[in-house]
Amino acid sequence: LRHLITLEGLGRERICALLDRAVELRDAFAMDAQGPQLLAGRTVVNLFFETSTRTRSSFELAARRLGATVLNFDIASSSTSKGESLEDTLATLEAMQADAFIVRHRENGMPERLAGFAKRAAILNAGDGNHAHPTQGLLDALTIRDRHADFGALTVTICGDIRHSRVARSDLHMLRALGAAEIRLCGPAALLPDAGAFSDCRILEDFDEAVAGSDVLIMLRLQRERMSEALIGDEADYFARFGLTAQRLARARNSALVMHPGPMNRGVEIASEVADGPQSMVLAQVANGVPVRMAALTTLLGVD
Ligand code: CP
Repeated sequence: LRHLITLEGLGRERICALLDRAVELRDAFAMDAQGPQLLAGRTVVNLFFETSTRTRSSFELAARRLGATVLNFDIASSSTSKGESLEDTLATLEAMQADAFIVRHRENGMPERLAGFAKRAAILNAGDGNHAHPTQGLLDALTIRDRHADFGALTVTICGDIRHSRVARSDLHMLRALGAAEIRLCGPAALLPDAGAFSDCRILEDFDEAVAGSDVLIMLRLQRERMSEALIGDEADYFARFGLTAQRLARARNSALVMHPGPMNRGVEIASEVADGPQSMVLAQVANGVPVRMAALTTLLGVD
């Protein structure tokens, strides 16, 4: 695996190998905070053209804990503002011996474009437009697998702004590869995807129906930054129809997992009592982000 752009087509074997490696690294760092310095002498560049808390921080922590040098490239003060292309920026940093670039961009396909241009370095997609967020898909997989070994027994519901969500697409690719029994997509009609790529999913507009019998609920925020004015509705109405409350959660299977990639909008897609409740996996997801990104970096950089 030279670059990590999408989980689509990666296949069960490669996904499981990445998850197994993440568990090994998680265990190694749990036993010894110093951990194996597998990336000593390597340089990792964070190239974020969109905001991020979780992805950016956990890639940085993953790389640093493994001994790498990390450059948090500051887009705003860089020569990109003088018109330097992204390709020239990449070539410049590659000439300084950067080994891996973590790329987040609002445009679909930008990490793939850079991967086609990179001479030596690995490109890891940290989220592009509504296309893909592969390490989020992997950390969601690990969070589920930690509690349910057999995906074939699981009904997973993804609810919210699926149309604009790269997380939904990467989760879908992961859930298909790992063989989830049923995948349900739920949200207002305007925020549901066109059927095409989702034809194997059950698409529902009634959230109560979608929650019933679910083993895993993945809640998504409304991505207002990717919406036209016409799609931005009233938050209270949205919460009444699609908000995950304790009352709604009671319709799911016993001990159903509640997941959210963050950032959460409490009182819009999820009630605080659920976000902070015993079934919430939100912080477990965040915690798994570090070993999953360690696994991705070491795999792409060819380090055992
Ligand atoms: N889940 C996720 O991508 O969060 P950030 O935008 O904070 O990185």
